[in-house]
Amino acid sequence: MDTAKLTLPDQEIELPIIVGTENEKAIDISRLRGTTGYITLDSGYGNTGSCASGITFIDGEQGILRYRGYPIEELAGSCSFLEVAYLLVNGNLPNADKRADFLDKVTKHTLIHEDMKKFFEGYPANAHPMAILASMVTSLSTFYPDGADGELDIIRLIAKAPTIAAFSYKKSVGQPFIYPRNDLDYASNFLRMMWAIPSEEYEVSPAVRDALNLLLILHADHEQNCSTSTVRMVGSSQANLFASMAAGVSALWGPLHGGANQKVIEMLERIRDDGGDYAKYMDMAKDKNSGFRLMGFGHRVYKNFDPRARILKSAADNVLTELGLSDPLLDIAKGLEEVALADDYFVARRLYPNVDFYSGIIYRAMGIPTEMFTVMFALGRLPGWIAQWKEMRDDPKGRIYRPRQVYVGSGERSVG
Ligand code: ACO
Repeated sequence: MDTAKLTLPDQEIELPIIVGTENEKAIDISRLRGTTGYITLDSGYGNTGSCASGITFIDGEQGILRYRGYPIEELAGSCSFLEVAYLLVNGNLPNADKRADFLDKVTKHTLIHEDMKKFFEGYPANAHPMAILASMVTSLSTFYPDGADGELDIIRLIAKAPTIAAFSYKKSVGQPFIYPRNDLDYASNFLRMMWAIPSEEYEVSPAVRDALNLLLILHADHEQNCSTSTVRMVGSSQANLFASMAAGVSALWGPLHGGANQKVIEMLERIRDDGGDYAKYMDMAKDKNSGFRLMGFGHRVYKNFDPRARILKSAADNVLTELGLSDPLLDIAKGLEEVALADDYFVARRLYPNVDFYSGIIYRAMGIPTEMFTVMFALGRLPGWIAQWKEMRDDPKGRIYRPRQVYVGSGERSVG
């Protein structure tokens, strides 16, 4: 085994080097403190591997994303979201029997307990649907205590999340809840729960269904991002499945993470209302004192391009064409991307559009309200969170996540 040599003021030690499947290299410092008394300091964890994982591979330099070894482009082109969910959670794509069994189970667990409907009544009409989603996911643990049913609870969660999401939308517009139907696929069922009203027939548009399927697959996992690390962090204390997932929802909500898709649309609208003056917004994005960032740009890992953004850019064009729509925000987004990619500031910092830059345009075309965008992201990310939580829970060497710190506060003092 290769080792790395670390020279400290008072000693020199050798640390094991770990090499991943794709030749990614890491220095194993797990015995560093015990051996030397030193810890590492890495604010924001940019250089810290928190686990070894066999779920998702990303090469940020080359714009590669694979789930369980399959390139995202292939999965997006040939699978349904539930097949990808199965792949992430169980490690392999399902054969025909397992696929039928999984789809059947997910379809039959879509109803939420009737008592849960009362919770929706208590929220103000303008409650953010991410707040409702987080609360409802935690609440599932009151109906299925401690997430003690293992695999069945995973099925329940995947099945019930779209129902909760659609109910939170119905609540916000004051319409009656539309119950799930067992003869519809996952995406169609969700769309119907969102848009149907009891007095009318509702036909799911195949273009919208396919776009939703694609979006969900592209969001399904992304290794140790902020929300996934949160899920692992909470789960590492052996908190139950539902509590751990609710923590993931909360982490995703922030505008630097999943909340960016809502912020992108708000930014594009602002630019449109301001006469489409890109230059002004580029200047603001470059000025650290402005507090303004180009939302949907930049990524901790992708430093070349985000493969998901590439797929979504062409999907945005296709969906709008298929639905016979045009959206001035898509033109603004493309214009802004062109200007940013030619700008020294963005080039030097290797800032490219991320998945959120174009996803919002497609959600808009589908009729999804802006406040629901991050909820859509959460629906997509759920299988990834579950897979990562399961991998952590099943790791015999798993320990509670408990980072250290370097204390820089005042020394001991006395109140007297
Ligand atoms: N607009 C303007 N400048 C930016 C942007 C941006 N969107 N993103 C990064 N920068 C600048 C930073 O100011 C910094 O400049 P400096 O080196 O002169 O100080 C440099 O680029 C590096 O940025 P960091 O913030 O250090 O990068 P980090 O990896 O910590 O953050 C993040 C990544 C949060 C995605 C950041 O790029 C960002 O805030 N983007 C906008 C929000 C966004 O789109 N989030 C979605 C991320 S994808 C996802 O979660 C699905």
